[in-house]
Amino acid sequence: MRLTKTIDELRVIVKGRKDNNNKIGFVPTMGALHQGHLSLIKRAKNENEIVVVSIFVNPTQFGPKEDYKTYPRDIERDYNLAVESGADIVFNPELSEIYVDEASTFVQVEGDITNKLCGKSRPTHFKGVTTIVNILFNIVSPDCAYFGQKDAQQAVIINKMVRDLHMNINIIVCPIVREEDGLAMSSRNIYLSDEERKQAIILNKALKIVTEKFNDGEKKVEKLKSLIIDTIRTQDLASIDYVEILDYNNLKEIEYIKEKSLVAVAVVFGKTRLIDNVIIG
Ligand code: PAJ
Repeated sequence: MRLTKTIDELRVIVKGRKDNNNKIGFVPTMGALHQGHLSLIKRAKNENEIVVVSIFVNPTQFGPKEDYKTYPRDIERDYNLAVESGADIVFNPELSEIYVDEASTFVQVEGDITNKLCGKSRPTHFKGVTTIVNILFNIVSPDCAYFGQKDAQQAVIINKMVRDLHMNINIIVCPIVREEDGLAMSSRNIYLSDEERKQAIILNKALKIVTEKFNDGEKKVEKLKSLIIDTIRTQDLASIDYVEILDYNNLKEIEYIKEKSLVAVAVVFGKTRLIDNVIIG
C-alpha cells in the first residue's frame, strides 16, 4: 500500500509491478469517496493484480462559477477507504505536478456526444475530463480503467476517445450505486439541505416510473420525456436542467425506443446540480 504524490515515483512502482506480469487496474477519482467509488475499486481489485486509484480534483473540468474551490477534500479519509477497498497505490498529485507551467495541450472529443446533456450546461467540462483522463492514462499506463455509469455521458466520451486514439486500455463501466432510498451516490449530495435531500429522490423515482411505462409498451420518446418532466415537477425545489432520451451508443436523438437508450436527467436543487440515468430497451 502506497500513497504517492509524484509521477516519477508512481511510474517506478507501476513499472516494477508490470515487469512481474501483473495486470494494472486504474480508478480515476476526484476524492470525497463514497460507496460508488469504492464499488469501482473493488471491481478493479477482482479483475487485476494491482489497483491504482488517483485522487485529484481537476480544475480544468470545473466551470468558472462551479465548486472547484469548495469541492470536499480529505486525503486521509479517502486514502484509508481506498486501501480498505483494495487499492494498492493511491496517487494524489499536486496541481503543479499534473499541469506543467504553461501547458497548452488539450484532448477534446468533438461533436454531438460532447455538446449535449451535461456538455450543454457545462461547455468546457468534457474537454477538462478527457484531458485529465488522458494525462492520467499516460502516467499510470493501466490495462483496464473503471468508470461509473452514474456519469453516463463521461463514460461514452471516454470510450470514444480510447477508440479514436487507439489507446490500448480496456474501459469498464460499472453500475450506479444508490443510497437506500434510491438517490444515486454523489460527492455533491452533502451540499443538499434536509428538504432538498428529501425531494432529490424524485430523480430515481421518475426514472423508475418511465422504465415501467416503457415495459408496459410505451415507446414514444416525447411521451416518456413528458412523464419524467411531470414527475420531477411535483417537487417544488426541483429545477430541471435537462431530461433526455437518446441512443445509448452515440447519444443521437431518437423518436422511438428501439435499441438500448439512455434516459438521462439533470436537476438543480438550490446550489446543487444532480444527475441520474437509466438504460432502457
Ligand atoms: P468523480 O466524480 O470522483 O467520480 C469518479 C468515478 O466514480 C467516475 O467514474 C464516476 O462515474 C464514478 N461514480 C461516481 N458516483 C458513482 C455512483 N453512485 N455509482 C457508481 N459509480 C460512481 O468522474 C470524475 O470523478 C472525474 O470526472 C474523473 C473521471 C476522475 C476525471 O477528473
